Amino acid sequence: MSMQVHVAQHPLIAHKLTVMRDERTDSPTFRRLVDELVTLLAYEATRDVRTEEIEVTTPVAPTTGTHIAAPRPLVVPILRAGLGMLDGMARLLPTAEIGFLGMIRDETTLEAVTYANRLPQDITGRQCFLLDPMLATGGTLIMAIEYLLERGARDVTAICLIAAPEGIKAVEETVGKTDASVKIVVANVDSHLNEHGYIVPGLGDAGDRLYGVVD
Ligand code: URA
Repeated sequence: MSMQVHVAQHPLIAHKLTVMRDERTDSPTFRRLVDELVTLLAYEATRDVRTEEIEVTTPVAPTTGTHIAAPRPLVVPILRAGLGMLDGMARLLPTAEIGFLGMIRDETTLEAVTYANRLPQDITGRQCFLLDPMLATGGTLIMAIEYLLERGARDVTAICLIAAPEGIKAVEETVGKTDASVKIVVANVDSHLNEHGYIVPGLGDAGDRLYGVVD
């Protein structure tokens, strides 16, 4: 099936992203901005969350309302950097269940390697939300989407802060070969990847900017 890319355009999103790009922005400020930004992106990303009607009685009269339908959506941050997006997402979608995928990019081959995987075995029929700030080569996101599809998901939304056109194309090619519906919600699509696999202009290494450098 085809993939949808939604670039969330809003002055607040553009402003926050610009402060995050600034190399002078320190980790505490960067973390706070990721948290704020993801809430705005999550608002867009959850536009198609499945709902059902319920009856509710106000102090004045009974009426028909809406609530999020079962089965509960699944939110999956991709560790390490996706963890910085979890609180903001969970605040907006508190009934979601949360799974974890730990992936690291081998900086020489630029291939994704999985070091942790904690997802429900069967996620058939669940709407899944992947959190990964930087869609660069697409390697990590493709692997994460494949895990979810293997376990039965067919509706996946990835929330990213910045994407490179190369990464979007790579994910699109993979998704095109499946019967899944995949959406990417992103604050901006930047110019390109450099020879080290960094997004240009980007914001550097999102994990390092959130949590500091770990060798
Ligand atoms: N991962 C990052 O954190 N930053 C990039 O620019 C590319 C991948």
